[in-house]
Amino acid sequence: MIKKVTVKTIQKMKETGEKIAVLTAYDYSTAKYIDEAGADIVLVGDSLANVALGYNSTQSVGMTEMLIFTGAVARGVNRAFVIGDMPFMSYNVSIEEGIRNAGEMLRTGANAVKIEGCNDYILSLIKRLTDSGIPVLGHLGFTPQYINTQGGYSVQGKSDEGVDLILSQAKLLEKAGVFGIVLEMVPEEGAKYITENISVPTIGIGAGKYCSGQVMVSDDMLGKFSDYQPRFVRKYADIKTTVLEAVKEYCNDVKTGSYPSEDEVFHSETLTKANALSE
Ligand code: KIV
Repeated sequence: MIKKVTVKTIQKMKETGEKIAVLTAYDYSTAKYIDEAGADIVLVGDSLANVALGYNSTQSVGMTEMLIFTGAVARGVNRAFVIGDMPFMSYNVSIEEGIRNAGEMLRTGANAVKIEGCNDYILSLIKRLTDSGIPVLGHLGFTPQYINTQGGYSVQGKSDEGVDLILSQAKLLEKAGVFGIVLEMVPEEGAKYITENISVPTIGIGAGKYCSGQVMVSDDMLGKFSDYQPRFVRKYADIKTTVLEAVKEYCNDVKTGSYPSEDEVFHSETLTKANALSE
């Protein structure tokens, strides 16, 4: 029987030093393969906006889209822990709305939600969510939903003061009840220091090898999304080339008449009209 990954499994992995493998997914079939191949956590990231929906910013997706794609992913996953990313402004207007929206994420099949940032409001929300039975993954360092206030796409925590700030935020998130924290675009030394000084696992993206686990956007690592490639992406496949080659071959087969072949069509002996036409 398949043993489902839970918050307890994830915490245990930090304690035993087993690295946590996390990938994003946005559709049923990809989620199914990512789960079957052994990823521990599948994150339905709001990177959906960029890689699946073609927007420039993650701020462009809302709850409606996130619920549709989270449901599709959850239906494809048996073992992994499924996390739904709370999109821009789905939790910022009021605690009540944040709880209601996070509840919808769990109702659609997620096991937990991810929330970016750390301030008094976010800390109260996280406490209320965890008290309500909704596990929360925090997200510090570069936080794309705050790109306009953070001042662009850049590495965070490059100075001692910067790392101390992220560590103090991580400790507050931990106290509020998160079961883990994503560290995005933080220098490796700083991410190591933070990981060693909190008890919940850190999941790094562009944060070096000392985090408790790593997350990558599946469309990046599978070579499907090709508009840009961050430095920390390692490409394990070239789906773009596979798709281009397959589609070129299909178009050629259609145009030359080699598709469909005799094996790929249906015949009827009772359709006299059609038979007559072909005689
Ligand atoms: O949206 C996303 O995919 C994310 C990960 C990159 C952590 O937030």
